Amino acid sequence: MRIGILTSGGDAPGMNAAIRAAVRCGTDLGLEMVGVRRGFDGLIDGDFIPLDNRAVGGIIERGGTILRTARSAEFLTPEGREKALEQIDRNSLDGLIVIGGNGSLRGARWLSEEGVNTVGIPASIDNDIPHTTMAMGVDTALNTVVESLNKIRDTAISHGRAFVVEVMGRKSGYIALMGGLAGGAEVVLIPEVPVSLDDVARTVADGRRRGKHHSIIVVAEGFAPTDRPLDGESAGHAVAAHLEGTETIETRLTILGHVQRGGSPTAFDRILASRLAAASSSWLAAGKGGVFAGLDRDKVVAVPLSAMDEEPANVDLDLYRLVGVIST
Ligand code: F6P
Repeated sequence: MRIGILTSGGDAPGMNAAIRAAVRCGTDLGLEMVGVRRGFDGLIDGDFIPLDNRAVGGIIERGGTILRTARSAEFLTPEGREKALEQIDRNSLDGLIVIGGNGSLRGARWLSEEGVNTVGIPASIDNDIPHTTMAMGVDTALNTVVESLNKIRDTAISHGRAFVVEVMGRKSGYIALMGGLAGGAEVVLIPEVPVSLDDVARTVADGRRRGKHHSIIVVAEGFAPTDRPLDGESAGHAVAAHLEGTETIETRLTILGHVQRGGSPTAFDRILASRLAAASSSWLAAGKGGVFAGLDRDKVVAVPLSAMDEEPANVDLDLYRLVGVIST
């Protein structure tokens, strides 16, 4: 069997570890592994490279993806999808591993519905994949957030300032909540919990009255305050501008941005990547596509790709409340 492997959407630390494990486990099972470059764009263009065990050497510790990635606009069109199916046929691919986040696994679902033996591997720092306790890349991103918060706290304490730190996550508040919890934030603002900017200012002012001289407010990029529209402004900007406006405390804004997507994967992400990829290769070899490799707490499970229609449930509101209690 000839199996293609591609990485798609936003890169996530651990993608290379997954490519390495998928190729080596696939080879062990007698599969011929083929790399597809630039995600679904490369699939449409037939941008394929052979991948043997040596080709994936020395990459386990590298962030990003050696296969490169893309947010393919063409794959969203019927013409683009037709071309992708033609390439799969012309290049005699018997199966495909799609490593990526929410949008990429939806693409994998479509291919599977068209009869392609497809398996997905959840890789996204957003942790917004249903039936997946942890997607690949989340742990590394969280550690980057915590490291950044540690550094920001040094300067926040020295100047007695508030720092608003905007983190990624798309519509999910997972990185903000878990990063804020681990980084000792006073306030965490996430899309899942509606809060007004006035409430934020009140919480920070209350803290000052209790003798807190600095504050760290972690804001998910998807957060929307209840008392004013964002009008194109980022969530972090809105929170920082409001705090400055109320003269509660001198405030600075840091947007962590793509720094959260880079870096060498943590041990957790490398192990997770290896486990998910090993399962994916074996499912494909057995012709059991149409699934993605979810993680149910510590167990790798085959989740039907149709579950991508479901809402992820990874944000634990008890932990949100815990932030409020332990930051007092
Ligand atoms: O999905 C991962 C992610 O990093 C999101 O958190 C963020 O909103 C988005 O990708 C940024 O995308 P891009 O790299 O295309 O700007």
